[in-house]
Amino acid sequence: MCGIVGYVGARSVVDVVLDGLRRLEYRGYDSAGVALVYAPEGADSYLEFDKKAGKLANLEAVLAEQDRPLEAACGIGHTRWATHGVPSDRNAHPHLSADGRISLIHNGIIENFGQLRAELESAGIEFLSETDTEVAAHLLGREYAVDGDLTEAMTRVCSRLEGAFTLLAVAADDPDTVVGARRNSPLVVGLGDGEYFLASDVAAFIAYTTDAIELGQDQIVTISRESGIVVRGFDGQASEGKPFSVDWDIAAAEKGGFETFMAKEIHEQPQAVADTLRGRIDETGQIVLDEVRMSDQDFRDIDKVFIVACGTSYHAGLVTKYAIEHWTRIPCEVELASEFRYRDPVLDRSTLVVVISQSGETMDTLMALRHAKDQKARVLAISNTVGSTIPRESDAVLYTRAGIEVAVASTKAFLTQLAACYLVGLHLAQVRGIKYADEVSAILDELVAAPGKIAKVIENLEPVREMARASAGKDRVLFIGRHVGYPVALEGALKLKELAYLHAEGFAAGELKHGPISLIEDGTPVVAIVPSPRGRSLLHDKMISNIQEVKARGAKVIAICEEGDAITASHADFVIETPASPTLLAPLLTTVPLQEFAIELATALGRDIDQPRNLAKSVTVE
Ligand code: F6R
Repeated sequence: MCGIVGYVGARSVVDVVLDGLRRLEYRGYDSAGVALVYAPEGADSYLEFDKKAGKLANLEAVLAEQDRPLEAACGIGHTRWATHGVPSDRNAHPHLSADGRISLIHNGIIENFGQLRAELESAGIEFLSETDTEVAAHLLGREYAVDGDLTEAMTRVCSRLEGAFTLLAVAADDPDTVVGARRNSPLVVGLGDGEYFLASDVAAFIAYTTDAIELGQDQIVTISRESGIVVRGFDGQASEGKPFSVDWDIAAAEKGGFETFMAKEIHEQPQAVADTLRGRIDETGQIVLDEVRMSDQDFRDIDKVFIVACGTSYHAGLVTKYAIEHWTRIPCEVELASEFRYRDPVLDRSTLVVVISQSGETMDTLMALRHAKDQKARVLAISNTVGSTIPRESDAVLYTRAGIEVAVASTKAFLTQLAACYLVGLHLAQVRGIKYADEVSAILDELVAAPGKIAKVIENLEPVREMARASAGKDRVLFIGRHVGYPVALEGALKLKELAYLHAEGFAAGELKHGPISLIEDGTPVVAIVPSPRGRSLLHDKMISNIQEVKARGAKVIAICEEGDAITASHADFVIETPASPTLLAPLLTTVPLQEFAIELATALGRDIDQPRNLAKSVTVE
């Protein structure tokens, strides 16, 4: 939450900062602001700032009215997801020190801000906002006044702050320096040719450089054209970041002819899943996960799996439970990260905790990871973001290769998480010697075929769009499924809630009769995720019964079923067919129409598809 960007270099600073904010806007869009330091020849350098509530476009309009002939020497920019203080001009970042010489932006929450604010107020400092951030700006101003060294001042300030924060600051009389600090919130450094970038994530600067440095916990970084990059710990000790190269393509950060990023990302799913599988299954049909940093023996030693994640990533975990328990017979529990650390999960060295996080920065998941590590469990991260905190703090990591996902609502990240989770489950099955060897090898063939089938589903989305438009006037939409169709129902409901702001709920179809069926009235749309009629036909039969139950109470049933499923077609009001697939892999296909359903229904209601209200993509607060 909150996107931050800083730059020193020869390009137009305001252009680079605004471009970075545009690419980080998915992290929050309650307000935006910039602070720019100018260094006119023969005169004192000075600082200007502008900030505006609402989306970045509002700030851009303000900046367009300014007449600033000089190019800035360095600058910082912020796009906000409000925590402390309503979204407003006053609460927008940057915030200034009392003397107006220092400007600071922040991502995270300063937990002891109340106490610091009281201390500063009693020293006569007047606060202009309700944010926690402003205390850091004032503290920094006071410390900077001591010795005029922004890095030293930041070091002293960080020693007083508690909570999670990334801070960036500039000083009016130091036009060649941007200082950043991070604890529990993301910050990466981009290395160009004589130019340097600081940002919440690499999306902000990949248009300019793909060389980056990952910072560790409790580190301060100073970028300047004269001295380059200097990293040190909060304890003042010199340190070095870890260099990495970004393989995301800048084209992925553009809409490429689609109306919305989300539509584009839905269409990218076949490629994203294929990329995630690439090189991870060898020609003999063995899964090769050398990169995860866990040996076969490590995998053999595991006797329990916990999957911990939030939101859509949690739904990927729920699907994985069915797969892991079936293929490996190892018990697997799935838990919301925000709950995990507040109870007493029974973990030890032989427990594998799989944390799933697209962003690699979700604070709930990060805290769950640390809780697991404290109890000596092994932690395997499944993440889409190289250089992010969760993979860095985990014992092992398997990267999904979805590329940048810009739309706030997750689509291709979810499908690639599923693909990565299937790989982990199948690998566990293979290294442990398995009961269902034939089934696992057939599943692998099907997994490799999945991208082609996803592409087929995408080619056939027009009927889904029609049904979505027809459902736009309804008060609620319910989603029901059994087995892996249940997490798919949850995911379909989540997509619709977040995009359309509509009451949508997913249920295990068998649970309906235990209460939720009372929600159904005449014309309520019920989306039923129907399992394949082949093989596990008992599951299919039960789902047909559930469809009949809701129809009997007036529901309009939209069934997502396997192609050629005549029984479902004879009971449902509308049918969306997906290609045949093994039951456990079906979510790779059945999720896709639900994504399109959400996007189309939300569009019919005039919603903002890529940036739904109140949300942010990277949730770095608990
Ligand atoms: C929903 C969505 C969120 C995220 C959740 C976890 O479309 O995107 O529910 O899945 O905030 O985020 P990550 O995977 O980054 O930890």
